[in-house]
Amino acid sequence: MSTLSLENVTYTYKNAPRAAVSGISCKFEEGKVYAIVGPSGSGKSTLLSLLAGLDLPTKGEVAFDGDSLAGLNLDRYRRESISMIFQAFHLFPLMTVMENVCFPMELCGVTPKDAKPRASALLEGVGITKEQMGRFPSKLSGGERQRVAIARSLASNAKIILGDEPTGNLDGANTQNIIDILCSLAHEKDYCVIIVTHDMEVAEAADVALRMRDGELRIA
Ligand SMILES: Nc1ncnc2c1ncn2[C@@H]1O[C@H](COP(=O)(O)OP(=O)(O)O)[C@@H](O)[C@H]1O
Ligand SMILES: [Mg+2]
Repeated sequence: MSTLSLENVTYTYKNAPRAAVSGISCKFEEGKVYAIVGPSGSGKSTLLSLLAGLDLPTKGEVAFDGDSLAGLNLDRYRRESISMIFQAFHLFPLMTVMENVCFPMELCGVTPKDAKPRASALLEGVGITKEQMGRFPSKLSGGERQRVAIARSLASNAKIILGDEPTGNLDGANTQNIIDILCSLAHEKDYCVIIVTHDMEVAEAADVALRMRDGELRIA
């Protein structure tokens, strides 16, 4: 199973006048792609960091497969259960594209010999050429870097993928390719994919579209 459930989750930043996330109860199930849309400042990134266990709710509970994150080893949860695709790519600048994708697998104990072909296949899947795999991230365009970040996030075995605007720098064809990859992971391999997006193409392709407003989450 790979399910996240929220029970009356509220998060208030220190000294903030009001909650960034306010009283959210919902369930994110495996096998589905969820899109979250909403204006800037409505709490989307805060919600993702609560789902990723980067912060714990001020009130309420986030549970992974029924276990409250408050009681889990969060380093392990983040390493083994969650993949994050950030708006900023967070690629390691001094590693090649190939090394960037191999690195998280090696952290999880995969040998370099096994990591390389898997990384190569993932990178090819997002349209990165063999020649580009040997480059440093600074020698790629913004869209190419974003696709490398997506391949890297797919390298772990985590079945929950959290994305903050993962297609923000991509053109139509590459956006469609990423949508296809995320939908097939959800529909064929039972991943739970939760994507914050401004992209209507992504929102329309999702199984469930949700809207955030003033810290509250509703079905769109
Ligand atoms: N580190 C922080 N400290 C205080 N307030 C924050 C912090 N991060 C975000 N906020 C506030 O929380 C609210 C929600 O922000 P955020 O989750 O980033 O929204 P979104 O991702 O939808 O743009 C905003 O009012 C924002 O100013
Ligand atoms: Mg944000």
